[in-house]
Amino acid sequence: MDKLVINGGHVLKGEIDISGAKNAALPIIAATLLTDEECIIKNVPDLKDISTMQKIFEYLGVKLRREKDVLVRESGSYNETTAPYDIVSTMRASICVLGPLLAKKSKANVSFPGGCVIGPRPIDLHLKGLRALGADISVEEGYIIANTKQLKGKDIYLGGHFGSSVLATANLIMAATLAKGTTVIHNAAAEPEIQDLGNFLLKMGAQIQGIGAHTITIQGVKKLHGAQHTIIPDRIETGTYMAAAAITNGDLLLRNTAPSDIMAITDKFREIGCLVDIDQNTIRIRRKNKMLKAGAVTTLTYPGFPTDMQAQIMSLLSISPGISVITEKIYPERFIHISELNRLGANIILEGCNAIVKGVKSLSGTDVMASDLRASAALILAGLVARGKTTVHRVYHLDRGYENLEKKLKAVGADIKREKE
Ligand code: EPZ
Repeated sequence: MDKLVINGGHVLKGEIDISGAKNAALPIIAATLLTDEECIIKNVPDLKDISTMQKIFEYLGVKLRREKDVLVRESGSYNETTAPYDIVSTMRASICVLGPLLAKKSKANVSFPGGCVIGPRPIDLHLKGLRALGADISVEEGYIIANTKQLKGKDIYLGGHFGSSVLATANLIMAATLAKGTTVIHNAAAEPEIQDLGNFLLKMGAQIQGIGAHTITIQGVKKLHGAQHTIIPDRIETGTYMAAAAITNGDLLLRNTAPSDIMAITDKFREIGCLVDIDQNTIRIRRKNKMLKAGAVTTLTYPGFPTDMQAQIMSLLSISPGISVITEKIYPERFIHISELNRLGANIILEGCNAIVKGVKSLSGTDVMASDLRASAALILAGLVARGKTTVHRVYHLDRGYENLEKKLKAVGADIKREKE
């Protein structure tokens, strides 16, 4: 296992290229199961989660060839329809092969994904939606066993207790593309990653209206063909580096990003005292004054402030004078980073799903443990500004979702290096 060793106190200045979005690439790769033809997907980040998806494809007998940042789904049909436990258990997003397998092969056996440190990760909405399209679904010995003679279009309300579901929407849109008749998904997720999936499916010949809205209509077609597509920039990686600039009182220019996808993040950073200049596909971020300001953040479904940026902005607010409140509405238990941030000298208490953050003058480095992807990013951010040395252990969590993180940070002045445990 690796660890990242950071010596804090360096101001970050320079330019960072943003990579392709992990959470767009995963469902889009899954969507290539809806055809037997070659698909070429560009701007695919080189991440552990993407390699996990490649392992699933290998098991299914579908060749995914990587050529630098291009993934080629080679043409060819496949017969295997099982996504096994030993792969799915390493990445719960594997669930997004369920819809395509069911639509293309009329059956699927997908290991029931477990929970994770951010809280329970139910899939009731996925199953509700697919059953509404006419799938017989049972859960046996830890596997989702799904079968259908022919999926049929339906009007489906897909909202859950916490609002819309990103991957349930992805599964349902993909399944509906080959269903007989028209499907209307109400309270669908509108995240940019879902919009990117929808645009890829249109290129494959799917008939979809309402991409980006909360009501999506899909007319089923007989067959989908191969397509080429370039993955959108990663908005969470963008927000994470915005936080890196703000926390070190630096000045970063983020390139190849999509400013229109992160209006909630930009708005919040401006509110807490940052200057954010946006252009076509670049964002420049620095502090307006010497000190940041406290703020109130509530995570919501898109276009609200994303839950995947909650831990990162908590690091930033932990050194902003005053009392900040962070309310987590998507994953009420997503606060494992609080204890590690407090070990770095932060002063954060949890009241239900509200984190009360009392800004401190400074943090002090120590050994901390990464846990989930975004909590790990929060610890790196804190380490960039903490006095002395911060060692973040178990960075494989980070490698799941951040491409070349330490290289990108080092290139703009961070004192960070990867070492073997
Ligand atoms: C996607 O997960 C992302 N992952 C997550 O990012 C992200 O945090 C999440 O969306 C919310 O934006 C990928 O895209 C691979 P959800 P997903 O279904 O689709 C509840 C990261 O860091 N829910 O939108 O699994 C659920 O418990 C990861 O990159 C149900 O109740 O999330 C949660 O409270 C972490 N029933 C809320 O909905 C269901 O059937 C939103 O979950 C499904 C979800």
